[in-house]
Amino acid sequence: MKTPFVYGIAADELHFTDREEETRRLRMNFENGINTIIISPRRWGKTSLVNYVAEQFRARKDIRVVKLDAFACRTPEDFYKMFATEIIRQTATKAEEWVANAKRFLSSLVPVVSVSSDPMNTFSLSMKIVDSNFTEEVLTLPERVATEKNLHIVVCIDEFQQIGEFTDSITFQKKLRSVWQHQHKTSYCLFGSKRHLLMYMFQKSNYPFYKFGDVLFLERIPLPYWTKYIGSRFLEAGKKSMTHS
Ligand SMILES: Nc1ncnc2c1ncn2[C@@H]1O[C@H](COP(=O)(O)OP(=O)(O)O)[C@@H](O)[C@H]1O
Ligand SMILES: [Mg+2]
Repeated sequence: MKTPFVYGIAADELHFTDREEETRRLRMNFENGINTIIISPRRWGKTSLVNYVAEQFRARKDIRVVKLDAFACRTPEDFYKMFATEIIRQTATKAEEWVANAKRFLSSLVPVVSVSSDPMNTFSLSMKIVDSNFTEEVLTLPERVATEKNLHIVVCIDEFQQIGEFTDSITFQKKLRSVWQHQHKTSYCLFGSKRHLLMYMFQKSNYPFYKFGDVLFLERIPLPYWTKYIGSRFLEAGKKSMTHS
């Protein structure tokens, strides 16, 4: 029997409902290299929205959407490693290119390829820092890759509020902003929960990320959409309406 709903995972194309205005706005921003910040409480659909729009760019040769998650990052170093790894991994067409590209674009980090425990991916990539002077090199990575491959890169960072928890977070944020704001072939979509923290980061004039991009406050999906959606999902799954049982 088919399950009418998908629990606990981001909505895929088949299950995606509403969000027409937000989808259009995000797509336009990706298309035009405009930075976007998405803020909403947990489980209101940020990850699903970004995945949905990213999917629409999958076949595009001129725009590459790279998806990162800062959730597990506890220190700036974690963040830099995750950032470098995912840019290299997701801008390559196959695993064979990882090492060559990492060597070509990075000198302060070395790639480590291992056999993955994830059945969907045969190999996994990580980075080892070999020179403490790595920040600039990592933060300019997407721009250098984009220039060389002649495309535009959209770097999407989920759970971005995590960097607000780092020790001396403001210094770290200043560093990111100072490098990212000069990039022309890379744009960013930064999103996360903790509304209060993110509002400070992006809307207070004395914070580094002030006026970094288009701020989108995701609203709850309106009830009529859910009602229609829930009804249609039940029908599709071949179940009878509750009132008839
Ligand atoms: N537009 C949508 N249509 C249908 N289901 C959705 C939609 N947006 C989110 N969901 C569902 O709601 C739940 C939470 O969405 P998620 O994208 O993980 O939220 P967030 O990233 O804001 O925490 C998921 O189970 C997802 O499948
Ligand atoms: Mg999410």
